[in-house]
Amino acid sequence: MKNKAIGVFDSGLGGLTAVKELVKCLPCENIVYFGDTGRVPYGTRSKETIIKYAAQDAKFLLSHNVKMIIAACGTVSSVASSLGESLPVKFTGVLEPTALACANATQSGHVAILGTSATINSHSYKKLLEKINPDLKVYEQDCPLFVPLVENGFTDKNDIIVRSVIERYVSQFKDTQIDTIILGCTHYPLLKAAIGEALGENVKLIDSGYETALYTKKLLEEQNLISDRNTEGVREFYVSDTPHNFEVVAGRFLGKDMKSTATRIDIENY
Ligand code: DGL
Repeated sequence: MKNKAIGVFDSGLGGLTAVKELVKCLPCENIVYFGDTGRVPYGTRSKETIIKYAAQDAKFLLSHNVKMIIAACGTVSSVASSLGESLPVKFTGVLEPTALACANATQSGHVAILGTSATINSHSYKKLLEKINPDLKVYEQDCPLFVPLVENGFTDKNDIIVRSVIERYVSQFKDTQIDTIILGCTHYPLLKAAIGEALGENVKLIDSGYETALYTKKLLEEQNLISDRNTEGVREFYVSDTPHNFEVVAGRFLGKDMKSTATRIDIENY
């Protein structure tokens, strides 16, 4: 069991923010990643559709005999929150680790969440943060243009389009008491440099992919499920549409050549 892979899925590139950290903190683990690039974005879709897509994504990963599944997607974690109950392996979404990190980081008690429309409309993060600390003042903003920007490779903080879109969503949070902002969609850390620049250095950004990777390590340790392999783990990448764009943006983000590393699969078979 220990040496089986960790399965990670997202609607597209976003879950790589978790993979990047998993590779650092659990270098010997095998990882199977699925990015549903043929059906991205999830965040503008109905609850029924998101639940159906998430179940198919998990089924695909189970077909690879994984020991654990990470929904590295704020939208799935918010809308299809009961997915884990139907799975035969350990499961985590991104909400708990991210909300806890935010509640621990804030000094002013004023925090904000940036997420997809589905995530923000569910108020999942807000409810959880208020449960963790009822004194928190929580603000929310959906940013539906961020995922298409990232999926199309627009992440450069000097790009005028990137700067304008970010300004549109986050300018309201500048020069307020808000000192901590959750990047509640796993795609958003790919825009972290640009978002950080727009908000200034006094605002701390919480990366949901990063926090979830750290939480996963803790979970696997508790369950005695850490691989005992002492060689570098193997990482497999699957997508549901043409791999080219995924490989280009993923390569830039992970800092290595990803050419010909992703395999296209038909997710409708799952
Ligand atoms: N990375 C997904 C999330 O965390 C993106 C959702 C989408 O495809 O809109 O919410």
